[in-house]
Amino acid sequence: MADHSTASVTPTPSQCIEFEQCGQPCRVVIGAGALDELPARLCVPSMPTRVLLVHDETLPEVLVERVCALLGPRTTMMPIAANEKAKSVRTLETLWKTMADERMDRASAVVALGGGIISDIAGFAAATYSRGVRFVVLPTTVLAMVDAAIGGKTAVNMLRPDGTLIKNMIGSVWVPELVISDVTTLATLPVRDIRSGLAECIKHAMLSSHALADWIVIQRARLDRADSVAMTELVRRSAPVKIDVVVRDPLERRERMTLNLGHTYAHAIESLSSEQWTHGEAVAIGLVAATAAAVEAEIAPATLLERVKGWLTAVGLPTQLAIGADIEALTRAMGSDKKREGELLRLILPLGAGGAQILRGPPAEVVRAGWESVAL
Ligand code: GLY
Repeated sequence: MADHSTASVTPTPSQCIEFEQCGQPCRVVIGAGALDELPARLCVPSMPTRVLLVHDETLPEVLVERVCALLGPRTTMMPIAANEKAKSVRTLETLWKTMADERMDRASAVVALGGGIISDIAGFAAATYSRGVRFVVLPTTVLAMVDAAIGGKTAVNMLRPDGTLIKNMIGSVWVPELVISDVTTLATLPVRDIRSGLAECIKHAMLSSHALADWIVIQRARLDRADSVAMTELVRRSAPVKIDVVVRDPLERRERMTLNLGHTYAHAIESLSSEQWTHGEAVAIGLVAATAAAVEAEIAPATLLERVKGWLTAVGLPTQLAIGADIEALTRAMGSDKKREGELLRLILPLGAGGAQILRGPPAEVVRAGWESVAL
């Protein structure tokens, strides 16, 4: 794992964003050094009776031990593998069993330390054990800080009889009461993972203000080395885009679907070439394809396509598929995505001045224009 030993770690005052989702209060604390606030923040409204700390097994030991000490003596550590195969009902059963063995009750808490895979499975364990226990997220990736840790989506994958996975098929919305995004935990993140998180930030910029994407491009060198001041600002500007949407549409009845901008294409790419691309890289290519589709549908001007490619290229993200990608197979793979309604495909298309439109049952030429824009 890359270690940015040259990363500039300057403590930044933490900011706490408070909101309600599904009637549940949630506090999102952002800052460099914010983890130190964990004990004080956790005891609101009262200290959990017991804590299960579910963490990515590859995280630096020093970080896991620090968090464990901050959580106090009634904490049980549960390392898990952060991969899609391990995001399974079997791992979930292990978590439930541990919670029962530790005699956790409804005043106990599950704390997730890691990226989106960890908070997805830990959150679903919290949502289902004893019909729901307290849930706290301590994200350690850019993607989790700006996206996965917010909004309460939790899930495990379902295994088909042929051994393939249906991603996030079994899950629920279980809102964490507390999210602490301490950007100093990003110091050991490989550059590729940092850039993958930037894809979701650029998606947020496309949904709100393009000024955020311009700022990311200017700050790219500092973000690459996980500079804590730049990272704090990134998370403070990007996370609220998602918070605003989930407050308005907590259960994804309509507006929250726009957060899937680029993802219908990205999920098809991931389903056919998951080894080649990280999720963020697939989203980057998906953002280009969705923009080209929007241009074809006359929803966005052609200049937007050039801007989107410019932002992504500047931060070192891919904008094209590998040579010889099979557009027909990718189009077929879109049909099995969860983001469809009955037989109708659902595309999220960006608007020229920010924001997005939901297109149900897009014409074949619109879908194809997206794929052709990213095919070599
Ligand atoms: N990642 C999209 C959502 O949480 O709605």
